[in-house]
Formats: sequence, structure tokens, C-alpha cells
Amino acid sequence: MRICLTGGAGYIGSHILVGLLEDGHDVLVVDNFANSSPTCLQHIRQLTGKSFEFLEEDICNQPAISAAFSTFRPDIVIHCAGLKAVGESQKQPLRYYRTNVEGSINLLEAMDQAGCQRIIFSSSATVYGTPRYLPYDEAHPVAPANVYGRTKAMIEDIITDWVATDPGRSAALLRYFNPVGAHESGEIGEDPKGIPNNLVPYIADVATGMRAELSVFGNDYETRDGTGVRDYIHITDLADGHIAAMAYLGDHQGVEVFNLGTGEGSSVLEVVAAFRRASNQPVPYEIKPRRDGDIAEFFANPAKANDRLGWQATRTLDAMCADVWRWRSKYPRGFDV
Ligand code: UFG
Repeated sequence: MRICLTGGAGYIGSHILVGLLEDGHDVLVVDNFANSSPTCLQHIRQLTGKSFEFLEEDICNQPAISAAFSTFRPDIVIHCAGLKAVGESQKQPLRYYRTNVEGSINLLEAMDQAGCQRIIFSSSATVYGTPRYLPYDEAHPVAPANVYGRTKAMIEDIITDWVATDPGRSAALLRYFNPVGAHESGEIGEDPKGIPNNLVPYIADVATGMRAELSVFGNDYETRDGTGVRDYIHITDLADGHIAAMAYLGDHQGVEVFNLGTGEGSSVLEVVAAFRRASNQPVPYEIKPRRDGDIAEFFANPAKANDRLGWQATRTLDAMCADVWRWRSKYPRGFDV
């Protein structure tokens, strides 16, 4: 198939790209390196021995995206490009709405012009907001509590309205839980710019000695050890979920929402312990106050994706940590050494 992958140099997109190339697809990657590196694409070329087309462009540049689509003529778009830092989204809402929402509209317009009728969208469990019940299933109310989450919920609605106008169209809206881990080769992985916001990249920085200690944001939640609980999913399992969704869209019309998670939660201290085991390094931490906006606990009910997509997350938390450690041992400073 001919696939356009936006955000293909980013953490999630790069792992999807490896899967698509291994399956022999023709891929056009669109990325402006806002939060990623060209070196990642080099690693993927070496790792897979495959080539792909690449457009360095912002999805907000509608004419450029349309021109690329009219030449490449994708059968399907996998849309991962976007801004994703929750804290930053609260401070720069218009930038988030412009990049995420306007960028997605541009993409749909370019698809219209090129006659492309299928899209897979990178959404997030953050669209659910404060849990009314757990695990979250896809019927849980959508009530995001931050700007980033609202951009995701809006794009879900826009795609749903777009699909409704033509019976030939189809879309899968994939709500990710907490992706961690790295490709098993250690050649690609998460490479946040600056101080990591997320738990596992921060732990990896501590284990490599780049940062002195982890701050554990709160140990007084109503969870089994008082620290926050999340559904961590191996990035390769997450990437496989996209491949499964692509196959699903091949013979289903309309819009479907799928949770991509494992169904199991791990606490911050459990992740620290797993990382210590995987790396054989100390991971010193200090308990700090709760982080503003954090939820005590959330995890997925992945039954719908399991049943309908024939997909299941199989990799353990220990495997996630071992793969991150392999990646960070090879490339302690990420792609731009
Ligand atoms: N945490 C720490 N110390 C840190 C970083 C995180 O204790 O330095 C804790 C958090 O308090 C939380 C857990 O580790 O309990 C996980 O935090 P992350 O920042 O790794 O992940 P979040 O669940 O907060 O955020 C993730 C994605 C967001 C998405 C959100 C909801 O990064 O993009 O899930 O789906 F919006």
C-alpha cells in the first residue's frame, strides 16, 4: 500500500515506520523535525535496509501537503504529527490548536484532493479526562481536562464528521495509553528535547547519570503504593496496533475508536524497580508534591482492539525497560550526540 505517515521521525511514528517498511509498503514520511531528528530516519534506513520518500514540511503548510499528496497518491494516511506536551499546551493554547487542529484539517483537505479516503489518527487516553470508572473503555465520556487533550478530542470529531460525508471513507481513532520502550535493536527510541516531561525518559536520564535523581510526584494517592498508576504499553506493541488498524480499515467503512493499552497499571515505584532490574543501575528518587493536573490512576480496557483488530499488547514492563536501556546505552544522548 501507499502510506503517508505524518510525524514519521518522532518517537511513535518512527516505530510505525519500521513496521511499515518491514511489511514492504511504500511510505511517504512528512515531518518538520519540530521535536525529532533527521538522524532517526538515517537509523531506520540502516536498520531496515529500505528506502522511503520524505518531505520536510509542517502540516500547517496546506499547499505543500496537497502538492505532495497529488504526486504520491496515498491509499491511507497515518497521522502522528502534532504537539504533545500537556503543560506547554496550557501556556500556548493557540499554537496547539493551530498545529494540531488546523494541521489535521489541512491533511483531510489534501486527502480529498488526492482522493484518499482512509486515515488512522494518533489520539490519546487523555481525551477521557477524570475517570468516571476504570478501566476506561471506548464508551467512557470524553471530557479532556487540558488543551492538548481538547485538540485530540476536536480532531476525533472533525475526522468523524469528514467520514460521515462519504460512505467510502473510513477512520480508526487510536487512543494511546502510555507508550514507553524502544525498538529491540536499540537503534531508535524516545529522544525528548530538553528536560523530559515523562517518567521513563527521566528515569533513563537518571540511570545513565545525566540527572541526579528522579522526582516522584506524590506518594499520597489512593493507589497500592501511593504513587500514580498508568498503563504503560511497549512502543512496538503500539506500532503493531497501527498495522492491525490498517488491515481493519481495508474491509470496514465508517469510524471506529480503539484503546491501545495493555489493560494493566503500574505505579511509579514499580516502574523504578523494573528499570533498576533492567539496567542494573541505581535510580535514586525523592518524593515531591503532586504534579498539577495529574490523575491518580488510569488504565485501558483494550477488549475492543483485542477482539476487532485481533491485536494484543504482549510485551512486559521488564521488556520495555530492557529495550529503553539498550537504546540509551548505545545512544546516551539520543540521536544528536
Ligand atoms: N512522574 C513522576 N516523575 C516524573 C515524571 C512523571 O513521578 O518526573 C509520574 C507522574 O506523576 C505520573 C506517572 O509518572 O504518575 C506518569 O507520568 P508521565 O508524564 O510519564 O505520563 P502521563 O500519564 O502524565 O502523560 C501521558 C502522556 C500525555 C497524555 C497522558 C494522558 O505523556 O501525552 O498520558 O493520556 F496526555
